[in-house]
Amino acid sequence: MAEPTVNYDEVSTDVLVIGAGGAGMRGAIAAAQAGCRVQVICKSLLGKAHTVMAEGGMAAALANVAKPDSWKTHFSDTMKGGKLLNNWRMAEIHAKEAPERVLELERWGAIFDRNAKGLIHQRSFGGHTYPRLAHIGDRTGLELIRSLQDKLVHSPGVDVHMEVTVTRLLVRDGRVCGALAYRRQDGGLVVYRAGAVLLASGGLGKIYRVTSNSWESTGDGTALAYHAGAILQDCEMVQFHPTGMIWPPGVRGLLVTEGVRGEGGLLRNSQGERFMEKYDAERMELSTRDVVARSINQEVLEGRGTPHGGAFLDISHKPADFIKSKLPSMWEQFHELADVDITKEPMEVAPTIHYAMSGVRVEPATGASNLAGLFAAGEVACGLHGANRLGGNSLSDLLVFGKRAGDAAAAFAQAGHKAVGWESGQLSEAIAYTLRPLTGEDGENPYKLHAELQDALTRHAPIIREEKGLRVGLGKVKEMQERAARVAVAARGGRHFNPGWHASLDVQSMVDNAEALFVSAIERRESRGAHTRSDYPAPDEELGKVNFVVEKDGEELKLDAIAKEAIPDELMEVINAKWNTDYTRED
Ligand code: FUM
Repeated sequence: MAEPTVNYDEVSTDVLVIGAGGAGMRGAIAAAQAGCRVQVICKSLLGKAHTVMAEGGMAAALANVAKPDSWKTHFSDTMKGGKLLNNWRMAEIHAKEAPERVLELERWGAIFDRNAKGLIHQRSFGGHTYPRLAHIGDRTGLELIRSLQDKLVHSPGVDVHMEVTVTRLLVRDGRVCGALAYRRQDGGLVVYRAGAVLLASGGLGKIYRVTSNSWESTGDGTALAYHAGAILQDCEMVQFHPTGMIWPPGVRGLLVTEGVRGEGGLLRNSQGERFMEKYDAERMELSTRDVVARSINQEVLEGRGTPHGGAFLDISHKPADFIKSKLPSMWEQFHELADVDITKEPMEVAPTIHYAMSGVRVEPATGASNLAGLFAAGEVACGLHGANRLGGNSLSDLLVFGKRAGDAAAAFAQAGHKAVGWESGQLSEAIAYTLRPLTGEDGENPYKLHAELQDALTRHAPIIREEKGLRVGLGKVKEMQERAARVAVAARGGRHFNPGWHASLDVQSMVDNAEALFVSAIERRESRGAHTRSDYPAPDEELGKVNFVVEKDGEELKLDAIAKEAIPDELMEVINAKWNTDYTRED
């Protein structure tokens, strides 16, 4: 194909960071500190990222409230929570480095809640042996973003382009060397040339109907990486957060932080029973998310759900002042949106899609993908969380691995990998792909297709899955893939802020992600963490030794099983150790 005749702007940089949530910003700061020119681009406005939906805290073994806590316990909890599907090396790095990253954030201006000694306070969360979540009320993700943003905009060498969407990565001689993007505001195309690219674009929650994710989370990063030749891993693993709002319908799925349960909130069914007693009598409401979400689901299936099909979450036995100081956003959210005063009455909640444990397969220490020059960190990367993420581990994940990937991307760019051009014809193809929805005649309506996709995922890849349903879902997605290639903007319109055009590109990413999810979910014929199969209700020892990966093979998706590196004996001992739970809390 000839080189393009369409106009585009060009930007050249050392490190291109795609996404400006916590991982992207932390990576950009690291690369700038290493002396690189850094170009950050985000689809939305700077500061608006799914990171803010990790409300309840960031997990780090600071041992401020529970003296016996250590990286070992945190590592063990993370591995057990992930049902050992985790990359153990990532879990080890994460547990060891999270405390320093939290303290660094404090030095950069984050204002944490304190205990009586003036140390960062830490709250309890599901699956964590000790109170471990450093927090700022129930606005931790927001404070993290605010602090990183402040640091970022004062970092020399960093430039930020907002409301810019990447549509294709550009590759030369097997190396990722940039990206094609468009500005949402005026539709102008931009070619970014880079020495290295750090993907930090978050998750894919919008492939489901009920989700805590907002419009940005359309799996763009994984789709970009896949089309460039990167390997994706554990695509069957998506997390249902147990507690989303369920009523009124307009706010269905909005997150109700696990912090409510961390501060003593109780779950009850329509008969007033604390049903978690049946499912995890030891940890009760602070069991892991996979277990709590399944338990609520089961109560509803057995006819003990709330009027709108969920469970009651009650914290009204705590003093009103305590609730308003520890959970100010929850108080306001329910008061404003549902006319519920949580200091006096229970909340009605149900599971909501919150997080992708799946993502780009990366080197544990650097975030390097299998493609030279492409790094990934945060939710778009895979490995740390295994089959189920513990609450609070995402904020510390994006600080720890955002920094590491930023360092590694900078080192790659500084090792003589300059911003270069792309392979012949590639840019023309990328531009044609990007602009095609504006020119199609009688094409598919992207909104209708998106709604159908959400229906397919919701019906055929729910909390409890089975082969027959998964195969039906896959069939529907395959058919949607063909239709997605014909998607077109209704009434065409121009390139100036054109939501139909944006939706057309988003839906193609989502359909590709959905295919990877169904294919992997079919193959994992066992139940493990967030992936529960009614036809294979138990874990399978052999399947626990492999990660399923997908990559693009010609125009087809190819699935493989890759053997996991065995966990060293000394770390296996840490995982199985008994922890001292007889201690006095220092609140
Ligand atoms: O429930 C929450 O506050 C979410 C935290 C997280 O996803 O880590």
